[in-house]
Amino acid sequence: MPTGPGEILKWDSRFFKKTIGRLNSREIDQAAFRAICSWARQNAMDCLYFLSRKKQLPFAPQQSEFFFYYLGRRVLLEKNPGAGTASHRSPGPFTIRPVQPSDIDSLEKISRQAFRETRFFKDPHLPEKKCQQLYGTWIKKSCRGMAERVLVAWGPQLPVGFITCHLLGPGEGQIGLLAVSETHRGRGIGGALLSESFDYFKNNGVKRLKVVTQADNQSGLNLYLKMGFKKKNLAYWYHIWREI
Ligand SMILES: CC(C)(COP(=O)(O)OP(=O)(O)OC[C@H]1O[C@@H](n2cnc3c(N)ncnc32)[C@H](O)[C@@H]1OP(=O)(O)O)[C@@H](O)C(=O)NCCC(=O)NCCS
Repeated sequence: MPTGPGEILKWDSRFFKKTIGRLNSREIDQAAFRAICSWARQNAMDCLYFLSRKKQLPFAPQQSEFFFYYLGRRVLLEKNPGAGTASHRSPGPFTIRPVQPSDIDSLEKISRQAFRETRFFKDPHLPEKKCQQLYGTWIKKSCRGMAERVLVAWGPQLPVGFITCHLLGPGEGQIGLLAVSETHRGRGIGGALLSESFDYFKNNGVKRLKVVTQADNQSGLNLYLKMGFKKKNLAYWYHIWREI
């Protein structure tokens, strides 16, 4: 059980070479903010990830060295992968299959470029190169066991897209990353990857499949809605930076 107002994220801190934490609560008022500031000072924190229930903060943060950067709306969507039929266009000559070790370099290249809509790329404190490296590392780790299954869209010579599948608690699954290379978008490959993942999740007893994306990511959001996902929750990402 979390005790303080947040937790220090060891992996993110090491990766970005900043002390980074995540706040536990989705609502903070002036009193809670004072407690957060003192916890963050004690731990020499540089940045706190804060997923807020509301876009508008209920107070104006004052007299502190901590500044709130609003980085966009996060939408959570859900679907039963075994229910209904999700129709999508044929991906033409591209086939979907589980990842092979020889795919990983190509997937890393796709991943480094694909996720520019995310809060990391939008945060002016985080260098673009590090954000690219973050998503490159994420897909590599997914292929090496962090995800239960990675499916790849395979073109005539090279992988052109991927989806990572995670099995959570009983009956629950989550899509981690989904991307198609920029030059191959709009040909039904994203839909085919999702459709194939539904079979994987269904065969593994998943009844509640979750995915998170940015509400402003029209291509991602349209694709999920078209494939039968329903919006479940909207929240607002802030990064709180200590600027001294
Ligand atoms: C989202 C993404 C995976 C879609 O892949 P894709 O292969 O281009 O998708 P498809 O060709 O299968 O399109 C399926 C549906 O998605 C939606 N869609 C795809 N691209 C779209 C766009 N540029 N604008 C609006 N809707 C779009 C449409 O509903 C489309 O159906 P339609 O062709 O009948 O109109 C791809 O754009 C991508 O990699 N984006 C960057 C990473 C990302 O945002 N990932 C998802 C969120 S984490």
